[in-house]
Amino acid sequence: MAAYDFEGHITDIPDYPEPGVIFKDITTLLKEPEGFKATIDAIADHFKNAGITKVVGAEARGFMIGAPVAYSLGAGFVPARKPGKLPREVRSESYELEYGTDSLEIHTDALDENDVVLIVDDLVATGGTAVAQAHLIEQFGAKLAGMGFLMELDFLNPCEAIAKATDAEVFALVHVD
Ligand code: PRP
Ligand code: MG
Repeated sequence: MAAYDFEGHITDIPDYPEPGVIFKDITTLLKEPEGFKATIDAIADHFKNAGITKVVGAEARGFMIGAPVAYSLGAGFVPARKPGKLPREVRSESYELEYGTDSLEIHTDALDENDVVLIVDDLVATGGTAVAQAHLIEQFGAKLAGMGFLMELDFLNPCEAIAKATDAEVFALVHVD
């Protein structure tokens, strides 16, 4: 079977959200039943022998890809949420944005040292969100086995920042030079 044309179904939006930025709109891929299935299948297939027990996905776009990948792998899904959204005790990790900082939170009982974790998100750009999640997972003593993305912005070289935080494998379906 021919490989699905992921790139051809992602829409470039020039000057969004600000002038000079080309936004990669994945909704045109995910709305297609074949595109959504091919995306989830390809990421899950890549990690099917990694013994993943939990998938961590970051609010909000990480939920769209992470939850179905977890289902496909027969793993649990753990949301990494923006501050104040989870109702019980959390572990938290801050990360740098272009202007200021943000943080992600995970419930304290969501992971433990026996878990083998896969981080899944739609996009890795600077790597800041992925590194914050890697540090968060480390707080639990869980093993981070890999990171799976629909898209990697290679021109921002996120793997350099990620490699400083973890030796987990990074896999992306689409590479943007
Ligand atoms: C986007 C995207 C990734 C992150 C990648 O999320 O969904 O999570 O940016 O960028 P980075 O590698 O530079 O950290 P965003 O923070 O825009 O929020 P959203 O998922 O709620 O749209
Ligand atoms: Mg996101």
